[in-house]
Amino acid sequence: MNRAALLVFAVLACSPTDDTVTDTTNQRPLPHDPHSYAQPDTARVTHVTLDLTPDFTAKRLRGTARLAIARTGKADSVILDIRDLTIKRVTTPGGDSLGFSIGAPKEFLGAPLSVALPARDSSARTQTDTIVIEYETAPTAAAVQWLSPQQTAGKKLPFLFTQGQAILTRTWVPTQDSPGIRQTYDATIHVPAGMRAVMSAENVGTANETDSAGLSVYRFHLKQPVPPYLFALAVGDIAFRPIGTNTGVYAEPSVVEQAATEFSEVDAMVAAAEKLYGPYRWGRYDILVLPPSFPFGGMENPMLTFATPTVLAGDRSLVSLVAHELAHSWSGNLVTNATWDDFWINEGFTSYIEARIMEELRGRPYADMLRVLGRQDLEKAMADLDSADTRLHLDLAGRDPDEGFSDVAYEKGSTFLQTIESVVGRQRLDQWLRSYFDRNAFQPMTSEWLVEDLRRNLLTPGEAARVDLDAWINRPGIPANAVAVRSDALAAVDSEVTRWNGGAAASALQTAKWSTHEWLHFLRALPDTVPTARLAELDARFRLSSSGNAEILGQWLLLAIKNRYEPAFPALARFLTSQGRRKFLTPLYTEMMKTPWGATMARDIYRRARPTYHSVATGTIDRVVQWPGGR
Ligand code: BES
Ligand code: ZN
Repeated sequence: MNRAALLVFAVLACSPTDDTVTDTTNQRPLPHDPHSYAQPDTARVTHVTLDLTPDFTAKRLRGTARLAIARTGKADSVILDIRDLTIKRVTTPGGDSLGFSIGAPKEFLGAPLSVALPARDSSARTQTDTIVIEYETAPTAAAVQWLSPQQTAGKKLPFLFTQGQAILTRTWVPTQDSPGIRQTYDATIHVPAGMRAVMSAENVGTANETDSAGLSVYRFHLKQPVPPYLFALAVGDIAFRPIGTNTGVYAEPSVVEQAATEFSEVDAMVAAAEKLYGPYRWGRYDILVLPPSFPFGGMENPMLTFATPTVLAGDRSLVSLVAHELAHSWSGNLVTNATWDDFWINEGFTSYIEARIMEELRGRPYADMLRVLGRQDLEKAMADLDSADTRLHLDLAGRDPDEGFSDVAYEKGSTFLQTIESVVGRQRLDQWLRSYFDRNAFQPMTSEWLVEDLRRNLLTPGEAARVDLDAWINRPGIPANAVAVRSDALAAVDSEVTRWNGGAAASALQTAKWSTHEWLHFLRALPDTVPTARLAELDARFRLSSSGNAEILGQWLLLAIKNRYEPAFPALARFLTSQGRRKFLTPLYTEMMKTPWGATMARDIYRRARPTYHSVATGTIDRVVQWPGGR
C-alpha cells in the first residue's frame, strides 16, 4: 500500500461512532504478526458489535458479532482469527448470506476464517463494510472460565469470566486477534435475572432493562480503539461499591466491602500516574475482584482491571498490583506491543511505572523494596530460562506466546528503564516518557521503533552508547551496566537472616516492624535446607502456615516443600485447591516434582484441583506435572 492509501486507511480505522480518540497522523505499517492470520494491509476490522447470551448449562456463549471492516482496492475478502468457535452463518446487515471458509486449525493459533465481502463500489478507494457472524463458543473455549456456584464466594449462582491476553480472544470473539489491530467495540449481553454483566468498556445500559425472554440486558461501549486481547466480560452475582467519583470496585457481595477498603488508595494512584505521565484517557477506572480461580494477579482490561482475590491481604500490602494494572492504561493500553515478540514493551514499562506510582504514594524506601524484590525475580528467571529467552525482544514465531512470558519482560524491562534513568536523570526520563505516551497514543510499538524514538527524543549519541541499547534489547543476560538497586529496610532483614543462620531463636528476631515485603525477603533469603525443628520454630512463632497473605504463604510453602516439612502440607493442599493464580501454582508444583514423594503429592493435589483451574493455569501445570493428555 502506498503512503496516501495508508493515510486514508488510517483515517477510516478510527472510531466510527464518535469523537476522534485515534491519532492517525503517526500510523506506521504494521509488522507481521506470526500469531494472527489477519491481513490488515488489505482488510481490517475497525469496530466490533457483540450481542451475546451466556448459557450456563451448556457452557456456551451464543449470538452475533457484527464487524465493521475497512478495506483497500484489491480486497474481496477479510480474514479473521477463530479458535473452537462454531460459525453458523455469515451475512450482510440486511441478512444476505456471505460465503465463508475455515482453514485447518493449528495448535494454539486456531484457524483462519475467510469471509467473502460484498461487491464493492468501484469508484471508492477504500470502503467500509459490515458483516454479521452468528456463532457460539465451545464449552472448552480457552478464554472463558465457567464457574459452578461452588467455586464462588456466594455459592448460589454460577459465574463466568474471560481472559483474552495473549491470543485467547479468538476463542470467544471472531475477529482479527492481533495486538496491532485496534478496534472499538459495543456489546449487548443478556443474563439471567439476579446476575450482572460487566465488561472492559463503558456501561451504557439503562437500569432494569429486560429482553423478550425475560433476561436482564446490559449494554456497553468502548470508544477508544483497543487490541482485542483487551476485550473482557464477566457475569455473576456482582455488586458495586464506589471508591471515588470515577473509581470503584465490583465483586461478589460478600467480598465487595473488603475490596473497597483494600483499594481505597486508587484515586491517589490515578492522580500520581497522571501527574507523571499525562491524562488518564479512559474515563472511569474500576476494579473487578474475581473468584479465586482467576489465573493472574491482575489483567489490565480497559476501564475495568480484573484482579485476583489473593490481593486482598487485609492490610493494603499487596496493592502495588493495582498500581501495575493502572500503569497499563499508559504502557500497554495506550502504547501497545505490535506483536507478542515485544511483550516486554508492555510489561517492562509497566513494572517501572508501578514502582514510580508506589513511590509517589508510599515513599522511596517502600518503592526500593519493590525494586529489590523485582531484581531477585530477575536473577531467578535468568537462572531458570534458556539463554535465548532472556532477551527482551523475542522471536516467538511457531511458539505459543505464553512460552515467552517470564519475569524477564517485567524485570529486565524495568531494569532497562531504571538504567536509562541513571544515565539521563529522572527528570529527562519522565519528560520523555510523557511525550512518548502522547506521541504514540493508540499506536502499536516495536523494539525497533522504540530505539528510534529513544535516539531521536531522549538520548545523545554518547548516552545511547553508555546505555548500550542493543545489549539490553537483543542480547541475553543482564548487561553489566544494569543500575544497582538497594533497600535499607531489606538490608536490615539480611542482618536478621544472618543472626538466624547463626542460631538465634525465632523469638529473638527483630520482626515487629516487618511488612509483607520484609517477610518475603526474609523467607527468600533463608537457606534451601533448614532442619525441621527450626521450621517448626518459625511456624509456631509466626503462624506462617496459616498466613492470610497469599504472597507470604506461597513463599513459606515453597520452603516447606524443599524441606519436606510435613506439618505445612495440609495448608499446601488447601492453598492449591482454593485459588488458581498461576504465579502461585507454578513454583509450588515445580518444586514438588523434584522428588518422587513430592511428585505423588503434586499429582494427587492436582487431580482434585485441576477441574477448578482456568485453562491458562492447566496449560502450564499440565506440563509441570506431566499430566496425561496435557500439552
Ligand atoms: N497483562 C498481565 C497479565 C498477563 C500477562 C496475562 C501475560 C496474559 C499473558 C498483567 O498486567 C500482569 O502483569 N499481572 C501480574 C501482576 C503484576 C503485579 C506483576 C500477575 O498476574 O501476576
Ligand atoms: Zn502487566
